[in-house]
Amino acid sequence: METIPNEVIKNIMHRRAIRSFETRQIEESALQQILQAGLYAPSAGGRQGVLLVVCQDKEINERLGKIKRSNSNPKMATATSYVSREQPSIADDPNLRNAFYDAPTVITMFAPKNFLFSAEDCAVAAENMMLAADSLGIGSCYIGAGWTAFADSYGQEILRRWGIRTDYYAVMQLLLGYPREGDNHPTPKPRKDNRIIRV
Ligand SMILES: Cc1cc2nc3c(=O)[nH]c(=O)nc-3n(C[C@H](O)[C@H](O)[C@H](O)COP(=O)(O)O)c2cc1C
Repeated sequence: METIPNEVIKNIMHRRAIRSFETRQIEESALQQILQAGLYAPSAGGRQGVLLVVCQDKEINERLGKIKRSNSNPKMATATSYVSREQPSIADDPNLRNAFYDAPTVITMFAPKNFLFSAEDCAVAAENMMLAADSLGIGSCYIGAGWTAFADSYGQEILRRWGIRTDYYAVMQLLLGYPREGDNHPTPKPRKDNRIIRV
């Protein structure tokens, strides 16, 4: 007998990285729910050390996204190795100038520099938020190596303006926005074989 997936499993299967957004801002009530989903994520030792800095300032997001773009690995996708045909990443399309893809909301997740589980804490909070976003009809994209968006004098000034403690670092960004109208929801790549090992 086939198992019917419940709503959580359907949500997990449906979420995809979205990199093409409507310019209109996301609903505040949706943002609040997404942030709560992040705050209720597991954290190492129950320390709740992750800070979620929400920026909806178009100019700042664009400038940081461009800094990140210029600091990204120039290695480009090939005909056989690519990130996404439907929602191209900066590795797929050299014409994309903004590593945040003009998302109207960019959440930078900061965590302590000297804590072993900072990256994991951010990643699990991000997954909660991406699933919450998907369930609310909002597209999201995980952006790794968050610190590279601040790697120049403007980025450093922004960190000071935001009052970020110097013993914290930007682990990653989470992009949020409504998927661009007319885009099909992306199809996942086929799953690679032999990744589950039953012993
Ligand atoms: C640790 C991590 C870092 C990522 N960094 C980026 C990134 O810098 N830019 C980007 O466009 N997507 C980034 N992604 C999104 C992945 O490209 C995406 O999850 C992957 O292609 C699979 O697609 P899916 O999320 O639609 O299943 C990242 C994902 C993870 C988990």
